[in-house]
Amino acid sequence: MRGRFITVEGLDGAGKSTQLDLAGTFLRQRGIPLCVTREPGGTTLGERLRALLLDSKQALHPETEALLMFAARREHIHEIIEPALARGDWVLCDRFSDASYAYQAGGSGVPWEKIGALEAWVQGALEPDLTLYFDVSPELGRARAGAIKTPDRFEQEQGDFHARVRAAYLRRAQEAPRRIHVVDANGSVDDVSAAMREILLSFCKGS
Ligand code: TYD
Repeated sequence: MRGRFITVEGLDGAGKSTQLDLAGTFLRQRGIPLCVTREPGGTTLGERLRALLLDSKQALHPETEALLMFAARREHIHEIIEPALARGDWVLCDRFSDASYAYQAGGSGVPWEKIGALEAWVQGALEPDLTLYFDVSPELGRARAGAIKTPDRFEQEQGDFHARVRAAYLRRAQEAPRRIHVVDANGSVDDVSAAMREILLSFCKGS
């Protein structure tokens, strides 16, 4: 049986990585064979593109940025995601195309329809079965992200960039309410993971 495809999204500083680890543990404990991967990245080429994309010293036109995100994604789908799903593994992916709508369209102003065209081209019929979007206020996200590490290109963005990213994520969630679950990530790790577990539990029951 084909595996299930789960993606995890959120603003920088939403606590996404911590929750992704907990989601992985939750699924493995249920005996689900799991492939955990990330975007941009996941393949040799993808990780090289990631280094370019996150490098704040590398100037990039927003549409170049979008094209490189989808180039990395094409490779990732071909090399990792599709083979894993075909052999029956579940794929747990740290970010996917919703991030391109949020960051490149919402944040950087690439037209929404251009991201849609790239999505249709690169993904065909492939779509996540479940997306967990960890929703945090841009202020809290910025404070949390800044406390952890040196900011990358996206974390360095100023002004209302992250508010626009958040608005685009919420628009995506409104457009696909069955797939995208919005998890309030302003609370403690325990509160957020409890909410996430509920969603995963009912998803597993229905799968
Ligand atoms: P992130 O997933 O936050 O990794 P880390 O936890 O190591 O910081 O970093 C990836 C960055 O890439 C994030 O700021 C969002 C950005 N991104 C896009 O702008 N578009 C995309 O399509 C994807 C997948 C990521």
